[in-house]
Amino acid sequence: MAKPPTKNTSGRGQRDLTVKVKTARGRKMSSTLWLQRQLNDPYVRRAKTDGYRGRAAYKILELDDKFRFLVSGARVVDLGCAPGGWCQVAVGRVNALGEKKGKAVGKVLGIDLQEVEPIAGAEIHQLDFLADGADDQVKAWLGGPADVVMSDMAASASGHKQTDHIRIIALCEAAAHLAFDVLVPGGTFVAKVLAGGAEGELQKLLKQKFTKVENVKPPASRADSSEKFVVATGFRGQSSGEMDGGAPVGTGHGEPL
Ligand SMILES: C[S@@+](CC[C@H](N)C(=O)[O-])C[C@H]1O[C@@H](n2cnc3c(N)ncnc32)[C@H](O)[C@@H]1O
Repeated sequence: MAKPPTKNTSGRGQRDLTVKVKTARGRKMSSTLWLQRQLNDPYVRRAKTDGYRGRAAYKILELDDKFRFLVSGARVVDLGCAPGGWCQVAVGRVNALGEKKGKAVGKVLGIDLQEVEPIAGAEIHQLDFLADGADDQVKAWLGGPADVVMSDMAASASGHKQTDHIRIIALCEAAAHLAFDVLVPGGTFVAKVLAGGAEGELQKLLKQKFTKVENVKPPASRADSSEKFVVATGFRGQSSGEMDGGAPVGTGHGEPL
């Protein structure tokens, strides 16, 4: 299991060790630049120290530090979970291994197209979430309601900005529809989107279904990427189709930390 992160989750303020990568025969310039960026990224270094499978872990840590949805006892669905950083964070925060004595024990269900190395405390399945019947399959694995549905799903980049934007919005919409089916009233939906034109409809729908919808770029999200996260809190319940101004009906299974 990942060690709890050291106090500074931002990855900033560390010694500036700029590693220069020399170009090598057979390696493309883009690969050289990628390698250089990885070697100089403080979040990549911190992920190694803290035992996380990737720097993405800090995005959900930072979002949860702000919104506090990963509470002990919460039941969480993590869509697009490979290699597993978000699951590692969720397992610790919802107490899926029961390590916080006297606190409610949560559940973490991870789904990805790719195979994922097992993570203690998480149940992980390989599945294309866009395949027919995938959401029914996820509901069957979940076996009950969820307090949090989170999605970091991203299709592999096509290099065409608008195409990538449309694809990620499709993934986000599919995740949102699962959330509408499984979330308890008061539940939370978190999903990655790319800034662009197509997300207006999705935002409108989320505003009908949740009491609060915010768009956030956590510090761990690279400044040069158009990625941001929508965090929708206070699910109004399954019958909420219209904007009714209702208050959140409950707080789900989880308890405050
Ligand atoms: C940025 S990675 C997720 C990183 C993860 N949150 C972590 O902390 O390790 C995006 C993932 O979305 C997955 N993905 C993309 N499309 C998917 C789909 N249709 N069904 C399931 N997973 C999908 C990809 O396989 C990829 O592993």
